[in-house]
Amino acid sequence: MKPPTTQGFPKTNKQQTPQFDDNPEMTKLLIFAGSTRQHSFNRQLAHAVAAMARTSGADVTHLELSTLDIPLYNADLEARGTPPDVIRLKETMDAHPAWIICSPEYNGSYTGLLKNTIDWASSPIKGHPVWGDSSKPFEGKVVGLLSASNGALGGLRSLSHLNPLMQNLHCWVCPRQFALAHAGEAFAAEGQLQSDRNRQAVQSVVDQVIWAAQRLS
Ligand SMILES: Cc1cc2nc3c(=O)[nH]c(=O)nc-3n(C[C@H](O)[C@H](O)[C@H](O)COP(=O)(O)O)c2cc1C
Repeated sequence: MKPPTTQGFPKTNKQQTPQFDDNPEMTKLLIFAGSTRQHSFNRQLAHAVAAMARTSGADVTHLELSTLDIPLYNADLEARGTPPDVIRLKETMDAHPAWIICSPEYNGSYTGLLKNTIDWASSPIKGHPVWGDSSKPFEGKVVGLLSASNGALGGLRSLSHLNPLMQNLHCWVCPRQFALAHAGEAFAAEGQLQSDRNRQAVQSVVDQVIWAAQRLS
């Protein structure tokens, strides 16, 4: 008789990282940060998350938004032709059933960079055989949300705005989220998170994203 599959979300503790062996297929996970700043805390967090997710068995793509040549959204500009990197972005998003976004907080919300990236990705390309449907790169994606800031709230308020945005685009937003406070002191020289508490909190988001993607995609 087949053993029962895990019904609930696996619990993590210090000793044990859950194994997702009831579905051996590797989850394709896209990770990106809403900042292009050289010493960005959110970019550092995205790096640390990518390493943790690889250890947890995910097939990780770490996208740096600085590698995309995407202008500020303007419908007149779009009418003259969607920039090739927007199509590259849509393809990359679409190829990954699970995403983790590391969001900075600007004025109690997420960054203009993140909004601009998502706006372009969600804009339909008129008459295009694949990208004529605006919801295509978003519908049904399992999305984990993290933030980082040097402040005491860790950029938490950016997530309160990013949650409804991603839900509006028909993503499954994972309920487990984490805001990394005092980010200036959070990373070791090699880039990993220094404290057990922060590592466990981030790992629990990674685990839930993988767990949900294996069931919802
Ligand atoms: C225009 C602007 C507004 C900001 N507003 C906030 C804020 O509301 N809350 C906060 O914690 N940090 C705020 N900050 C600080 C950023 O969170 C901080 O610069 C952070 O390091 C940006 O993320 P990054 O390190 O990933 O680039 C703001 C920064 C800028 C430039």
